[in-house]
Amino acid sequence: MDKIVIQGGRPLKGEVRISGAKNAALPILISSLLTDGWNTYSNVPDLRDIQSTKLLLSSLGAGVESDGDRIKINGGGMCNHEASYDLVRKMRASILVLGPLVARLKKARVSLPGGCAIGARPINLHLKGLAQLGAAIELKHGYVEASADHLKGNEIYLDIPTVTGTENLMMAAVLAKGVTVLRNAAREPEVVALADVLIKMGAKIEGAGTSVMTIEGVSSLKPVSVSIIPDRIEAGTFMVSAALTRGDITILNGEPDHLEALIHKLRLSGAQVTVEDKSIRVQGSNEIASVDVKTLPYPGFPTDMQAQFMVLMCVARGFSVISETIFENRFIHVSELKRMGADIKISGNTAMITGVPALSGAPVMATDLRASASLILAGLVAVGTSEINRVYHLDRGYESIEKKFANLGAAIKRVKG
Ligand code: EPU
Repeated sequence: MDKIVIQGGRPLKGEVRISGAKNAALPILISSLLTDGWNTYSNVPDLRDIQSTKLLLSSLGAGVESDGDRIKINGGGMCNHEASYDLVRKMRASILVLGPLVARLKKARVSLPGGCAIGARPINLHLKGLAQLGAAIELKHGYVEASADHLKGNEIYLDIPTVTGTENLMMAAVLAKGVTVLRNAAREPEVVALADVLIKMGAKIEGAGTSVMTIEGVSSLKPVSVSIIPDRIEAGTFMVSAALTRGDITILNGEPDHLEALIHKLRLSGAQVTVEDKSIRVQGSNEIASVDVKTLPYPGFPTDMQAQFMVLMCVARGFSVISETIFENRFIHVSELKRMGADIKISGNTAMITGVPALSGAPVMATDLRASASLILAGLVAVGTSEINRVYHLDRGYESIEKKFANLGAAIKRVKG
């Protein structure tokens, strides 16, 4: 397997262009299943999860064509209602086909995703919501089997504002008979991006971006041509790298509105953040101040930035507390960071960090995407050489991360395994 080798200690400087958002692209590509005819998507990131999504959609009978960052998908040929274990185990987000399959083919058989490195991650709320829309649901031999002659709109209250759960139910409800009200819906920008695409397809959705969404079912949807929004977590990762290496980085095509919580915390840590329309400039300060962080659903601080922000706190002056409230096991980077000299204590869902003057380079590995990104950041600021192993996870969610960091002045390279 490939690894990333970094010689740390260089301040990163320059401009970086952010790729399309993984977590927006996945549901949007899958929403093609709701239409007949070719949908065209541009600014699609070149990621392992996107490859997995293309395989998944082809396996269901959809037409898939790619050309650089453009992908065309035709849901019209969809004939297979089964998403196999082999496909779902590679990418949990495959569960997003459940809603569209039931809505269009009246039945679905989708492998249960199971837990992953960061938590148990049940899908009970996806299933409960789908049942409230009239689907019969059974769990058999590790698969969810769902069927419904006609989905019918209903009032659904989500116990937790689940992101993919909200997306799955939106995709089922747009073709259901009558009105669905989703209460305590997720408000993440990726949910809004999916709603925008569905509305362009002809869906009637109100309230996306708020916790109450109203969806009036329509009889059919038409294909669309859309561009994927920039990835706020990729942008956030580069922003933290500027603060961390006492550098000066400008994100050329960010969505500052999607990054308010991070911008606030970075400013408190001493970094200078300048926002202009789509550009976000982060200038690191010599003195990094300690800042407490608690992850929350959007617009709170994103769990997907927790590991990266922790690295900044590892070299801050003083003591900080980071609470992870979204996933029960999202501190897998901590033991690796400690091997690089970080002073972190964990108690339940809380990490207590005492800043150290410097991290020291080491060989490390992680079993999760954002944890891997945090180790890259740690390598960029550490004294000496770091080797980040199991780059597989990184390639699921960051496009050419080592090239982008190299363009900003990092001594970083990929070594083929
Ligand atoms: N949950 C339930 N039951 C459900 C669904 C969720 O208990 O039916 C719980 C989860 O176990 C978790 C919490 O609710 O404790 C929130 O999970 P959510 O469903 O919102 O997460 P997700 O939809 O599976 C998406 C992103 C994640 C991101 C989270 C939180 C995609 C494809 N994935 O996951 O992204 O961390 O929302 O913002 O959109 C990543 O990109 O690295 C990543 C993990």
